[in-house]
Amino acid sequence: MTDTRTAPKKVLIKTYGCQMNAYDSDRMADTLAAEGYRPTDDLAEADLVLLNTCHIREKAAEKVYSELGRLRVAKEEAARMGRRLTVGVAGCVAQAEGEEIARRAPVVDLVVGPQSYHSLPALLSRAAAGERAIETEFAIEEKFARLEAAGRAPARTPSAFLTVQEGCDKFCTFCVVPYTRGAEVSRPVERILAEAEALAAGGVREVTLLGQNVNAWHGLGPDGREWGLGELLFRLAEIPGLDRLRYTTSHPRDMDDTLIAAHRDLAELMPYLHLPVQSGSDRILKAMNRRHTADDYRALVDRIRTARPDIALSSDLIVGFPGETDADFAATMRLVEAVGYAACFSFKYSARPGTPAATRDGQVDEAVKSERLAQLQALIAAQQDAFNRSKLGAAMDVLFEKKGRFAGQLAGKSPWLQAVQVEAPEALIGTIGRVAIERLGTNSLFGRLIGTAGGAGAPALAEAAS
Ligand code: 5AD
Ligand code: SF4
Repeated sequence: MTDTRTAPKKVLIKTYGCQMNAYDSDRMADTLAAEGYRPTDDLAEADLVLLNTCHIREKAAEKVYSELGRLRVAKEEAARMGRRLTVGVAGCVAQAEGEEIARRAPVVDLVVGPQSYHSLPALLSRAAAGERAIETEFAIEEKFARLEAAGRAPARTPSAFLTVQEGCDKFCTFCVVPYTRGAEVSRPVERILAEAEALAAGGVREVTLLGQNVNAWHGLGPDGREWGLGELLFRLAEIPGLDRLRYTTSHPRDMDDTLIAAHRDLAELMPYLHLPVQSGSDRILKAMNRRHTADDYRALVDRIRTARPDIALSSDLIVGFPGETDADFAATMRLVEAVGYAACFSFKYSARPGTPAATRDGQVDEAVKSERLAQLQALIAAQQDAFNRSKLGAAMDVLFEKKGRFAGQLAGKSPWLQAVQVEAPEALIGTIGRVAIERLGTNSLFGRLIGTAGGAGAPALAEAAS
């Protein structure tokens, strides 16, 4: 499609929810760049606004409608100024609600589900012709193929996401993901390696592999054997320049021996693992269809910690799942106490339309959920604080990612995903430095640069070099 206007069109993409959406937003920006759209953060100059939405809990989904209310005003304002503002809804709310969005919010010109982003140019043409353009087909193979063909713009930060797998076949009874993101599909090995190599060549030092169920990833390896995520990580670790590897989000059932061995053997695999458990009660775990018990999880954590003693763990936890009693909740508290997490995300159960748990008996009172959440969050906060405190006085490698909050400071990440602020020259962005941790802030650690580690020879990033 050719653009006959001289001024580039501008697109504002607003991202909600998980890292997968963040990755998809960047890929949508790449696709739209080929259509002549440049990114903007300023609504007043935008020709197109895309909301990349999240449907995981009711609150997240409702945010979309309040944002659409604001966009209605902006669209009218633009029209008064003789400009056309096109409004699109992408992501999981788009997938789950489709036509319903257009009905509830007439401001919306196009609706596009997460597996149809390659159709954006066609949808925009239809919207420009005055049509309500809606596309919510499940077409993951086509999305992967077409987005890959469109290419990926060079990363602007030393840490990048790389989607290796989409969708989920686990069907936890509370979760919309199997319905909004569809069945589990793995990207082929060679495509993942090509993208990782391109990222490394562009100066990326840390890659986080993404998937709704990332450790269910599998594919045919170049050795003719079926690979799991462990084998893939061993291969990715060989790519020069990729000093740090991470992956998220994992299911406890899919932590196989090779993956645990990767934690033992690969210095590149960072000692941090997000391993959601959701509940510590076997009764509730069963009702959630998690397919493991609290003891299975504890035993798994032991094996992982034996393989990699300095590993930090994080989790997702839900309180107030239908039927959850005080005793069930107490079991969750006990599990969290026993495991000892570096960080946790905790949520009140939110009934999602179409999921089995939504219509079950024993829905828990909001006030009870709030009370349990407060108790759990106090425990989580204490554990997080203890974990951060344990790093006080330690020396660690920090990947410098961007300028810090104050002049002369850089913001980086510890191996354990902690934000670290350090006084260091800007030229060190994209390198890994050795840092002594001297102070704990509310959201970050403060440290002093004491040396470099692995920084030499790294190609400069597009942004860092300019
Ligand atoms: N209610 C509350 N939390 C939920 N999550 C997923 N679905 C729901 C729901 N219906 C949480 C889970 C999951 C995280 C991404 O969101 O803890 O791991
Ligand atoms: Fe949802 Fe994760 Fe369960 Fe899949 S494994 S259904 S994404 S909570």
